[in-house]
Amino acid sequence: MKLDRRRFLSVAAGAVAAPALMSCGDVTLPANGVPQSDFDEDSTAEEVTEGIDLKGKIAVVTGCTSGIGFETMRVLAKRGCYVVGTGRTLESAQQACSRVPGITTPIQLELSDFDSIAACADAIRSLNSPIDMLICNAGMRGGERETVYGIEKHFVVNHLGHFILVYRLLERLYLAWQGRVVVVGSRAAYRSAPREGIEFDDLQAAQHYSAGRAYAHSKLANILFSLELARLLKGTRITSNSLHPGVIDTNIARNESALARGAFGLWTRLAGKSVEQGAATSCYVATSPLLGSTSGEYFEDCNAVIVTGDNHMHDQDQASRLWLLSEELTRDYLVKIERPDWNEFENGLRKKRD
Ligand SMILES: NC(=O)c1ccc[n+]([C@@H]2O[C@H](COP(=O)([O-])OP(=O)(O)OC[C@H]3O[C@@H](n4cnc5c(N)ncnc54)[C@H](OP(=O)(O)O)[C@@H]3O)[C@@H](O)[C@H]2O)c1
Repeated sequence: MKLDRRRFLSVAAGAVAAPALMSCGDVTLPANGVPQSDFDEDSTAEEVTEGIDLKGKIAVVTGCTSGIGFETMRVLAKRGCYVVGTGRTLESAQQACSRVPGITTPIQLELSDFDSIAACADAIRSLNSPIDMLICNAGMRGGERETVYGIEKHFVVNHLGHFILVYRLLERLYLAWQGRVVVVGSRAAYRSAPREGIEFDDLQAAQHYSAGRAYAHSKLANILFSLELARLLKGTRITSNSLHPGVIDTNIARNESALARGAFGLWTRLAGKSVEQGAATSCYVATSPLLGSTSGEYFEDCNAVIVTGDNHMHDQDQASRLWLLSEELTRDYLVKIERPDWNEFENGLRKKRD
């Protein structure tokens, strides 16, 4: 095992922060039955996609305006992929897309506004194309407790927003040769989420609120969402996987206090990954030819892992319960998921109706 400065500092910082951060006994082990890659925590998004030709493929990347999402979009476009990049405003998405060589389309998406999500999905559907990769990357962290639609804001933005988006775009993933849903979670899901997992009886976080806890709760929801989606899609060619990108100095801490932002910046600069490395696992899971039939897995540093210990990372019961609850909470914004009728297709294209 290489012992570099980042790993040393990360272990040291982890040891100091462990009592506050970790539920006891959480250990990651390689997942059985998933092809192992030669990539690791040092690999960059460009390295993991080297030699992969994405011409003719279409990806949607949420939160393309900054950090990991921007780098993911940049590298996928560099490999020839057509990328639809979303930003909270059309202008910010346009600006990000204009900085990327390659073919991109900016679309507005505000995940705390369900009408905006429906409009974004409709705009993407109006492109009338299959979707090969749907990368649920956008996320927020921090701030005072706030509710949207009567629900704690991290849960709405990070989980429910993407739940609606994926639901409304699933039909387009069926049309791809092999559609992939990639959900950017976080290891906060097992380090700082509530002990009982999803707080089904307190989605407002009225009883216990801290930004870190609410963020971790929403990231656990991301991972369980991906797990249940994979179960529901068994027997189809669509896969769903989730991941932790690493700890990276991006804008994710923008809603934190100046002190917390400073500490995060220092920690990530000393012990974290670069943005280029931070986008590697997303790009690897979205594009690796090794993973065509890998679904329901959780990845760190470009490899699937099992997280052992007292956590809910692989809790299928909670995943199914969360799915039903999410459907209930967003019912007015969901569309019936139609599996395509293959009789309507010829050479991969929908036949023209008379
Ligand atoms: N950085 C880390 O150490 C780390 C660790 C673990 C997991 N992650 C995850 O990685 C993902 C990307 O984060 P990042 O680190 O790249 O942070 P970032 O630089 O802050 O990027 C987050 C992106 O999400 C967008 N976004 C935020 N709130 C949104 C909303 N309400 N509706 C739509 N889009 C919204 C942001 O748009 P604006 O720029 O317009 O706000 C931005 O494009 C997140 O899911 C995060 O949880 C990051």
